[in-house]
Amino acid sequence: MSEPIDLAAFPDNFRWGTATSAYQIEGAVTEDGRSPSIWDTFSHTPGKIDGDDNGDTACDHYHRWRDDLALMRQLGVDMYRLSVAWPRVMPGGDGPVNPKGLAFYDELTDALLEAGITPSVTLYHWDLPQVLQDRGGWPERDTAEHFAAYASAVAERLGDRVTHWATLNEPLCSAWIGHLEGKMAPGWTDLTAAVRASYHLLLGHGLATQAVRAAAPGAEIGIVTNLSTVHAATDSPEDVAAAHRQDGHVNRWWLDPVHGRGFPADMVEVYGVELPEKPGDLETIATPLDWLGLNYYMPAHVADDPNGPAPYARSVRREGVPRTGMDWEIDASGIETLLLRLTEEYGARKIYVTENGSSFPDRVGPDGTVDDPERRAYLESHLAACASAVAKGAPLAGYFAWSLMDNFEWAYGYDKRFGLFHVDYATQARTIKASGRRYAEIIDTHRKLG
Ligand code: NOJ
Repeated sequence: MSEPIDLAAFPDNFRWGTATSAYQIEGAVTEDGRSPSIWDTFSHTPGKIDGDDNGDTACDHYHRWRDDLALMRQLGVDMYRLSVAWPRVMPGGDGPVNPKGLAFYDELTDALLEAGITPSVTLYHWDLPQVLQDRGGWPERDTAEHFAAYASAVAERLGDRVTHWATLNEPLCSAWIGHLEGKMAPGWTDLTAAVRASYHLLLGHGLATQAVRAAAPGAEIGIVTNLSTVHAATDSPEDVAAAHRQDGHVNRWWLDPVHGRGFPADMVEVYGVELPEKPGDLETIATPLDWLGLNYYMPAHVADDPNGPAPYARSVRREGVPRTGMDWEIDASGIETLLLRLTEEYGARKIYVTENGSSFPDRVGPDGTVDDPERRAYLESHLAACASAVAKGAPLAGYFAWSLMDNFEWAYGYDKRFGLFHVDYATQARTIKASGRRYAEIIDTHRKLG
C-alpha cells in the first residue's frame, strides 16, 4: 500500500536531492596526499566498529564517482549533498592546501553542474584531520579558527560554481557521541571536553559562515542539525523534566545559539561546565544564515536517570512500535512536528530536510532486484508528513534522501544499509532498490505537476 503524498503541496521549485558524506563513500584514504582523519584512527582501533570495518575502500567513490553520478541521474534528482574531506584539502589541518585534494571536488562539481545537478557542499562531516586532534581537537579554540581557514580555501576554489553550502553536519554527534558517549571518533567520554567541543564547533560554524560569504558572495549558507521530537516516558514530573533536559541536550543547545538566543541557561547549569566564551563569540555563532538543515530519523522517549550521565535522561525502548533495522522507532509525524517547530518557534525562513532515511537488511534477490518495501514505506510516510508541514506553512525548500547508496555507517560499519542503491562491497556493483525507483517516480510526478 502506498501512502498518499500530497505532492501538490510542494512548491514548483522544490528541490529533490540525495546525500552522502566523504568518509562514508570515498575510500582512497591514502591517495593524492590525503592525511588521516580521526575516523581513520577510530575505525582502525580494534573493537570500535562492528566487524572492525573501516572506510579504507568504502564505496570506492573516489574512483567511481562518474558511475555514481549516473545513479543520481537515474533517480532524477536535481541536487546532491556531498561533503568535502578536510584531510584531503588541507592535510596539515591548517596551512597549505593540497591541489590534488581540491581538484577532486572541482572536477566533481563541474560534472554535477553539467548533469544539471546542483551540488550542496557540507564542509565538515566528522572527518577532522588527525593532526588537529593531536593538538587537542574540537575542545580547543584553535580548531574553530583552522576550520574557518579550511572553509575559506574550499570556497575560494569552488565558490564560483557552488552556491549551496553547509558548515557542519550534525555537530551533536561530533560533540556528544564523539566526546561524551565515546561511540564515535575521537571516542572520548569526558563531559568538560564534550561541552567545550560543542562550543568550538558552533564557533567554527559562525567563523566558517563568514569565511565562505567573504570568499563566495551570494552563497547560500546553512547548518545541518539532527533534531528529535522528545517525549516523556510517563507523565511523572521527573520524566517530564528529563524530557525537557533531553530536548535541551539534542535540540535547544544547538538551535538557540545559532538563532542569537545564546546557550540555554538551564543546560549550562545541567552540564556544570564553564563555557570557554570570549567577547563577541555569541554574535559570531549567530551569524545570520540563509537556510536551516534538518536531519530527521526518529523520535526519542526518555525517563529520568538521576544517576546516569548528563543530561540525566535515559532512552526508553517502546514495545510494539515499528522500527528500522537500526532498531530506531519509526514515527513520521516527528518530521512534521520539527518542521513546524523550526517555523513557529525559531522563525525559520528556509528549511531543507538535509537527511532522512532508513536502514534495513537488504539483499539482491535471485532475479537481480532489491525489494525493500519497508524503506519505500518509510520514504512515503515521511514525505507525506513533509507535505503536511508545508501545507501548514513550513518553508521547506527541498528534501535529500539519505543515502544515494549503501555506505560506511560509522560505528555500525557496512552491516547497516541506508542506500537507495544497494552496494555489493566485494564487487562494488550498485543495484537500484525498489525504494530508489519509487523516489524517482515521486520526483517525476512532482515535476510534471509544475
Ligand atoms: C546522520 C549522518 O549525518 C550520516 O552520516 C549517517 O549515515 C546517517 N545519519 C544515518 O545514521
